Amino acid sequence: MSNAVLVSTIEKIVSGNKGILAADESTNTVQKRLAGVGVESTNETRRDWRNLLFSCADAAPFIGGAILYDETIRQNAADGTPLTEILRQHAIVPGIKVDTGAKHLAGSRNETITEGLDGLRDRLAEYRELGAGFAKWRAVINIGEGRPSTNSIQANAHALARYAALCQEANIVPIVEPEVMMTGGHSIETCYQVTESTLKTVFSELNMQRVDLEGILLKPNMVISGKDCPTQASSERVAELTIRCFSHAVPAIVPACVFLSGGQTEVQATENLQAINASGQIPWIMSFSYGRALQESALKTWAGDASKVDAAQRAYAHRARCNAAAAGGTYNASLELEQDNA
Ligand code: G3H
Repeated sequence: MSNAVLVSTIEKIVSGNKGILAADESTNTVQKRLAGVGVESTNETRRDWRNLLFSCADAAPFIGGAILYDETIRQNAADGTPLTEILRQHAIVPGIKVDTGAKHLAGSRNETITEGLDGLRDRLAEYRELGAGFAKWRAVINIGEGRPSTNSIQANAHALARYAALCQEANIVPIVEPEVMMTGGHSIETCYQVTESTLKTVFSELNMQRVDLEGILLKPNMVISGKDCPTQASSERVAELTIRCFSHAVPAIVPACVFLSGGQTEVQATENLQAINASGQIPWIMSFSYGRALQESALKTWAGDASKVDAAQRAYAHRARCNAAAAGGTYNASLELEQDNA
């Protein structure tokens, strides 16, 4: 019998074609993103940027969860309201990134192991008090010369499973994220092979650690061509191979896959999600947990200017609406024009 708390949290996050806003960039990463639009990264600018997203009422019908960073889950908006409270007012479940980053895997050639298991039980208890209903842990699998190695896949899958078991013990839904990176010149077929073997290893480890598969959210990459591959596969091919790969590797009992965008453009991430959902019978809810593909246009529009908050929120709500349409299989290119006509 599955844990009712976990099942009900998952329902709140992904029902009605909703998806997740990934706003859990580490301080280093968000600093780079803010610098890209000429904004200095301070406690206040990070807070204001996240608050702009969390308080966007027009996006709220399409967003069921938001992933926060440790700093953010403790922050209050300028008027003193906790950011987690603002999310709750919009019926968005707060989530928390709990891994402490991908570090060099000893003995490997440029491979990483994601850390953060030490003390995790206590941190989860605190995050639960702070309002987190779900958590995220991202493993990074790189494709390249001799990569990924079997031991890097195995080590990362083991850590993901240990993390997921601890989350479920704390009544927190674990997002299990084994990201096969788009970086590189590899073909979509290579991505297929690596993704399949990674997912099979992850589910074997999840079973080994007695993780309840009905109480997780899988956050996978799509099966897609490497960024520098001269032949870029179409959305239809991405959908075909993603579904074929998952049919081999992801148990049907898993309730939902919430894809990462991983460096796809905003529209590409939406089109690929649409193609996946238009492919017919699949056992899982296929939705989104996008960072860049939800935030990019909005961030450029805002660029730290308080007078641009409304316009930036419109840009964010537009992407949220388009991605929820894609999660329901009803997105088409004409939807892209609606923001301009709104
Ligand atoms: O862990 C990855 C993020 O949560 C998703 O970010 O959509 O920009 O790849 P992305």
